[in-house]
Amino acid sequence: MQNDISLVDVSGQAPREQTFWPTVVLPKARIDLEIDRLASIPRPDDGRRAAAVNHPMNTGPVPAFAPGIDVHIEVLKPGEQTTPMLRNSSHVDMCIRGSATVKSGSKEFPVEKFDVWNTPAMHPVTYTNTGNDLFVRLSYSNAPLLERLDVHYISDTASQGQVERSAADTELADKQRRAREAAKPIYIGTEGAQMLGYEWLVDIDTVDSKLLHWPWKDIAPHLETVYGMDISYTGRHLYVLYNPATERRIGTSHSFFATIAKLPPGKVDKPHRHTSAAINYIMWGNGKSVVNGERVEWQAGDLHFSAPGWSVHNHASRDEGFVALTIQDHPLHLAMESLLWQETLKSPVLKLGSDAGIQTNLASMEA
Ligand SMILES: [Fe+2]
Repeated sequence: MQNDISLVDVSGQAPREQTFWPTVVLPKARIDLEIDRLASIPRPDDGRRAAAVNHPMNTGPVPAFAPGIDVHIEVLKPGEQTTPMLRNSSHVDMCIRGSATVKSGSKEFPVEKFDVWNTPAMHPVTYTNTGNDLFVRLSYSNAPLLERLDVHYISDTASQGQVERSAADTELADKQRRAREAAKPIYIGTEGAQMLGYEWLVDIDTVDSKLLHWPWKDIAPHLETVYGMDISYTGRHLYVLYNPATERRIGTSHSFFATIAKLPPGKVDKPHRHTSAAINYIMWGNGKSVVNGERVEWQAGDLHFSAPGWSVHNHASRDEGFVALTIQDHPLHLAMESLLWQETLKSPVLKLGSDAGIQTNLASMEA
């Protein structure tokens, strides 16, 4: 292998032209057919009847609907249960049909249509269909990126999986806690550059990463507030389902935000773009979009790859308006300092998280 290493001359080379995956809509009818098919096959060993939605431009290594986001349609028949798995991907799920019990450690809660929850990495969850109908959820994860990096760790909890720390180990760790405090920073220059010992690399400040649940019955009443806002509002008629573990990156998982929008009729967003990619699931109503110059229409039950990263796009509501779940890999880009955002095509390209952010007219509307 050593001799196969090549040196590629990139001197003076122009930047590679980026490939925008086109906008596509997976219609409700196809999703429903797939749900029926998954319900008809023999139960797989791990209990997971699942189909991954694959964009026609995807080159792998795993099915994905956006370059860094996969969407699985997961089905459980009444009485069925899944096998809990340990994965270092993190997930955001929405129930789109039926009901189930979600169990993770000592936490257990019921979910029903349009409930949303996140599953942190390395957090085994058991789903049990306790209802009489099929339980169907859309499960979004950052697995495509981890697979591209060839570091997607997946193990069932029964095999080697998680090695529990013994009580003695934990006690020792507590006693030794903050060995890094003995590794004093060495300051270099006057602008903040430092040198730190190894302890700083392996004893990171922790943030409690919880599985959180946003029941639809608690979300829905608040959506009337944004639905009732005048269409002269320059922001978006939505709420982000915020997980405090993501801190200033305002996510639902560490990679994705989930927003629920409820747009009044006749609302047309200004064309804009961002490096984060977005996938919309239309929960109610209908509308249309222009993405990279391509016009598409969509309605309740459709899954829309609505914003390929850095593609100019805008969405508009029709008839009664619409309600949509948007999953976008916004927190991931914030962590990478790569979240470029252009709110209108006449606005500057901002690096959100470093540059001063975008201001809407919300304050003047409330006056
Ligand atoms: Fe957008």
